[in-house]
Amino acid sequence: KSTSAPSLADGEERFSKSGFIFAAIGSAVGLGNMWKFPYITGKYGGAAFFLMFVICLLAVGLPVLMAELAIGRGGRGSVSASFSRLSKQKGWGALGFLMILAPFLILSFYSVVAGWTIYYAVRSFSGQLFSNSDYSGQFSAFIGSWQPVWWMLLALVLTAVVIIKGVSAGIEKFNKILIPGLVVLLLILVVRSLTLDGAGEGVSFFLSPDFSKLTAESALVALGHAFFSLSLGMGTMITYGAYVDKRQSLGIGTMAIGLGDLLYAFLAGLIIFPTSFAFGIEPGEGPGLVFVALPAAFAAMPLGSLFGGLFFILLAFAALTSTVGLLEVPVAFVRERFGWSRGLSVIVITLLLFLLGIPSAVSVGGAVGGLQFGEKTFFDWVDFICSNIMLPLGGLIVTIFVGYVWKHAGDEAGLTSSWFRIWIFMVRYIAPILVVLVLLYSAGALDF
Ligand code: PHE
Repeated sequence: KSTSAPSLADGEERFSKSGFIFAAIGSAVGLGNMWKFPYITGKYGGAAFFLMFVICLLAVGLPVLMAELAIGRGGRGSVSASFSRLSKQKGWGALGFLMILAPFLILSFYSVVAGWTIYYAVRSFSGQLFSNSDYSGQFSAFIGSWQPVWWMLLALVLTAVVIIKGVSAGIEKFNKILIPGLVVLLLILVVRSLTLDGAGEGVSFFLSPDFSKLTAESALVALGHAFFSLSLGMGTMITYGAYVDKRQSLGIGTMAIGLGDLLYAFLAGLIIFPTSFAFGIEPGEGPGLVFVALPAAFAAMPLGSLFGGLFFILLAFAALTSTVGLLEVPVAFVRERFGWSRGLSVIVITLLLFLLGIPSAVSVGGAVGGLQFGEKTFFDWVDFICSNIMLPLGGLIVTIFVGYVWKHAGDEAGLTSSWFRIWIFMVRYIAPILVVLVLLYSAGALDF
């Protein structure tokens, strides 16, 4: 039935050429780069891990990104409609549906962390954050209360306001304002951190590799993170692809998005590692690194509440340009499938997200007991199921579809014949094998 649904292409919704690049970079650059990347780099081997991440991103991430954009532009629909249009088989639409569920789930906990960053930005500028030097106590008191629910709601509402305005007046415009802002903030903070006394040690931790630290486990984590960081396997890039102009080069777009994401991760590393080392903070600290360790560092530097505030604003911007890309995926689906207006779709989905987000928001810090299942809280489960299972599964679906099912992928990609050969080789053989390894590892079938 979905094949006969109105195509998103019937509407006027299109990105401009630069708008698409801004929006896609905005989606890729997010909490993954600044919150997750530093602590996993700290944990899995520093510079050697970073190098592994770069290789995974270029060799596997970019080919899959290209495949997703091609599916979106070729199918011109929401994720599941694009799949069924291009394959003419029903089953693919249902697999596509899996990739619509994933961003919905991800958004329910990602917006919780996005809410934390807004709260921290406000507290830092106002100076309250620095009035008490027990940063770990402050963080646990905050996440152990009900307050994060309201900050999550704020993050969701901001996201919804952008998505209600649509593709060019909403997503594109928002990213065109925030991304340059992000670059400016990033550069200010890089200069600040590199000029701290003792910054050098952090720089060499991040940039001079010690290969004895590399393990098979760290390689799989690097690959999983390359997927997360490029927003792959979750339908975002397929949905954005549906709004891309036919004349735009997907090859150049893919390169720009990949390099933008990489550059951002690199600069984030140049902020976080020198700052941590200069103040004697262990970078393998875990998810609290950014919220617990960095405030201590900002407190110890001149104009700390200004730099701290800028840092958390940066984080909030990065998070919001990603939540926007996530919300558009289910919204596009509901509009196409049920013929609802954009406004109604956004309101209904945001409300559902808010309800689903509450258990995440109150379980992570233990505000509400009983939300611990086995070793993990509700929040950790949603994160684990999305990042470690649904996302590689989505990646696998994409590679099989483009590599073996959709016959005209090459025409849509529009690559020269030698680039095409490299691309299709990676998509057919290398990417699926590596993704399956990541899945087995996540399922606990591979032990290191
Ligand atoms: N790429 C984003 C980040 O690094 C996360 C994300 C994943 C956003 C999937 C959209 C879709 O934080």
